[in-house]
Amino acid sequence: MRVLVVGNGAREDALSWRIAQSPSCEAIFAAPGNAGTASRGENWDIAATDGKRLTQRALAEHVDLVVLGPETAIAAGVGDRMRDAGLAVFGPNRSGGRLESSKIFAKRFMERHGIPTARAAVVHSFDAARKALDEWSGAVVVKADGLAAGKGVVVAAGAGAARDVLTAWYGHNAIPGGGSDVVLEERLEGREVSVFALCDGRAIVPIGSACDYKRAGDGDTGPNTGGMGAYSPPAGFPDDLDDMVRERILAPLLRGLLAEAEEYVGVLYCGLMWGVDGPRVIEFNARFGDPEAQVLLPRFAGDFAALLKSVADGAMDLSLARVSNRHCVGVVLATQDYPRSNTALVGLNADVSLAEGCRAFWGGSQLSDGSVSTGGGRVLTVTALGDDLAEARARAYASVKELAGRLGTDALTYRTDIAQLP
Ligand code: AMP
Ligand code: GLY
Repeated sequence: MRVLVVGNGAREDALSWRIAQSPSCEAIFAAPGNAGTASRGENWDIAATDGKRLTQRALAEHVDLVVLGPETAIAAGVGDRMRDAGLAVFGPNRSGGRLESSKIFAKRFMERHGIPTARAAVVHSFDAARKALDEWSGAVVVKADGLAAGKGVVVAAGAGAARDVLTAWYGHNAIPGGGSDVVLEERLEGREVSVFALCDGRAIVPIGSACDYKRAGDGDTGPNTGGMGAYSPPAGFPDDLDDMVRERILAPLLRGLLAEAEEYVGVLYCGLMWGVDGPRVIEFNARFGDPEAQVLLPRFAGDFAALLKSVADGAMDLSLARVSNRHCVGVVLATQDYPRSNTALVGLNADVSLAEGCRAFWGGSQLSDGSVSTGGGRVLTVTALGDDLAEARARAYASVKELAGRLGTDALTYRTDIAQLP
């Protein structure tokens, strides 16, 4: 198989690596790709959202499978265009992608189909928001409707603080992601966990789960980020986590998709809050998580590319590859000012090879003349496998220290408490 991975982050580096390891993969391409994907296949200089050029090039290169990494590609309709041209695509069309790209669509869908989630009010103006808040008691989670790269959600302690957020958003016509639509919802209590399910349009099955660390600083302090680290499998959740998610979330979701003739092909990321009464959905994403993919994919054994192709073909065959019971920990190395701003770095050592079972994935970056340049932000995810969580964690941090000395920069920082259990 000739496989194209669309996107340029560490998630896409991990996808490209796992796919390239698959017995059925003959050639791997990435668009636009990064320093990691460049080391194992050709990078095409085409934006992840440029459906037209991606389709032309994929047809010309006889690509057998396209894997959509980022939500921006899905929301731009890259999947629709490529499917229309006859390509096999892993990743939903724009319409199914609304489970992620519109929080209002997702909330209404969950309400229609009895999927447990936070109670919410949808508002389209500041006046309507103020009215809803007049009757609110307790904390309020304020969410912009559209895609906002993690910047569209504020957890406010009460109605007053929520009003301040909305005054700023509506007053400056600056709702993250654009538009004028906002969801106000109750704050859920519990522990967060991300569950990944494959859907071929007919069946939906959980394939693995992970815990992500969203805050910038140790001890869950500082601003929200795209994710500073992750580990898989999650610790401290019920043994029947997958069964409960299947029964309470995935089964009604699939019934809803079928009833509404909403075709969904790809991975569904369920961001869950696990409380005393079990899981409730915080959000859906229409793609793998970043950095969750970096800790999930090293655990896969078998022919991962063939598994994704079977999903894209509408005939999912889970015997092709499955998650092992090994543990994986991933630590993100980011520039010190992330997420407030991004400092570009040049001349980084391109050799990020590590001991067996340990692997570093590049975020957005370019490889040229043997060194790496990056726009900053989340630069690398360093991952390690182990027979238990403690071993994986120790190996991941040993690798982080080794790489930090080798990269040729002291501009990177990382959390020291990823996968450290209380
Ligand atoms: P989202 O983009 O919807 O995943 O929200 C980003 C983060 O905000 C989540 O990972 C949670 O940590 C937090 N969050 C969002 N909605 C809620 C909620 N209803 N209750 C508690 N925390 C929430
Ligand atoms: N790690 C969170 C996300 O990928 O959205």
